[in-house]
Amino acid sequence: MIPHLRAPDLAPSFLARGYTFIGWHCDRLGTDAFTGRLLGRQTLFLRGAAAADLVYTPGLFPRPGALPRSAVLLLQDRGSVQTLEGEEHRRRKLLFTSLAHPGEAERLADLFEEEFTAALPVWRSAGRIRFHDEAVRLLGRAAIRWAGIQADDRVMDQRAAELGSMVEHAGSIGPPNWAARLRRRRTELWARSVISSTRQHLDADAPDGVSGRARDGARWPVDVVATHAEPSGGLLDEATAAVELLNLLRPIVAVSRFIAFAAVALDAHPHWKRMLAEAGGTGNVELKSVAAPSHGDGVAGEGLSDARRFAEEVRRTTPFFPAVAGLAARDFEWEGARFPAGTRTMVDLYGTNHDPRIWADPRAFDPDRFERVRVNADNLVPQGAGDAGAGHRCPGEAMTLALIERAAVALARLEPAFPAQDLTVDLRRLPALPASGVILDLS
Ligand code: HEM
Repeated sequence: MIPHLRAPDLAPSFLARGYTFIGWHCDRLGTDAFTGRLLGRQTLFLRGAAAADLVYTPGLFPRPGALPRSAVLLLQDRGSVQTLEGEEHRRRKLLFTSLAHPGEAERLADLFEEEFTAALPVWRSAGRIRFHDEAVRLLGRAAIRWAGIQADDRVMDQRAAELGSMVEHAGSIGPPNWAARLRRRRTELWARSVISSTRQHLDADAPDGVSGRARDGARWPVDVVATHAEPSGGLLDEATAAVELLNLLRPIVAVSRFIAFAAVALDAHPHWKRMLAEAGGTGNVELKSVAAPSHGDGVAGEGLSDARRFAEEVRRTTPFFPAVAGLAARDFEWEGARFPAGTRTMVDLYGTNHDPRIWADPRAFDPDRFERVRVNADNLVPQGAGDAGAGHRCPGEAMTLALIERAAVALARLEPAFPAQDLTVDLRRLPALPASGVILDLS
């Protein structure tokens, strides 16, 4: 029997507990599943790997309507891949999986490292920096350059700040959220103009559309987005192509949060700082350690590099996406109980990443746990579960891992000082960040 919470609405409990909301109720009730009303809708709350597997069953839990509009409008947005199912989703998802493979992740990480190196003299003369803000800027610039978009320094910095603000305010309501949505409009106008000018410069005779700008043996991501064909054969309309371009750029900027938590972890675990500082010699080339993401092969823990184990543990421990939700496309059963089509079902990602049945001593930061735990498609879920090609799992895991690894190694070598600051993480705030924004002293 799945317990039911009778509160008129669980929104106050959600606001009070944030990331720990589902887990706290599950622990209290001695269960991995309960039902209750959230924001006016009956919801089935679940945690654990089996639940992640259920909510990521392709086609079973479409996302539209399951999350508050305030979050959707700042994140994926209308018409995006996340709102699609079936053949339409499969085809649109290919756009992302074709661009987010380990080779492209490596190219992006190279650009990030270049930006990091270029920022060093400025940081040194500033003395102290708020590292999270700097990471947003570097990632935004790297993302725009990676995509093959031509923009001057001012535009790159402005777009980086706007993309960072969308992530920052996705979990907020009221004026801060509205202000971020207003800023998003400016970013969207820019993205539309990028798509439109890319299309104007495409070579009509080339088989799959190549802009005048050369790139060895591959197409620029912006060209790929601008020329992506719908199942009908036509191009994406300009607004949707702009939304998908932002769905490539914005989450790259969002990696700033993992990188900020990585900086804190390095400071707290000096032996990891030493190990990563020594990783891979001194040149850029030797830093490259990126393989395919580790999920889904069942033996992920074996033979991972130090940088990869560290990055995976940063992803596991960082509070980022608390949960994901979908509305059931048809009736389904869970633990012997039957639920009708339309049931909102929410799976606890944060709680699953901290489930003691999978992760011994889950609050401890221990990258070596990846030598012991068999990672599969559903137990390490900071970026969703299941199969990225078939379902809604994030296509950007290789990129995320490559960026965390590269940032961690660069920081370990830099050895910045941590001045006294408030590194408290408020788990009621979505998305979370250490309170100070991670101040580093480079003087
Ligand atoms: C989907 C998290 C980085 C692009 C998702 C989902 C999560 C997630 C939890 C699943 C949403 C759902 O099930 O409805 C994250 C986090 C990231 C990150 C925490 C690191 C900061 C990236 C990157 C990209 C990306 C670098 C760029 C390729 C997407 C897209 C989807 C998605 C397009 C929608 C997939 C679909 O609906 O099929 N992400 N992501 N993400 N992510 Fe990421």
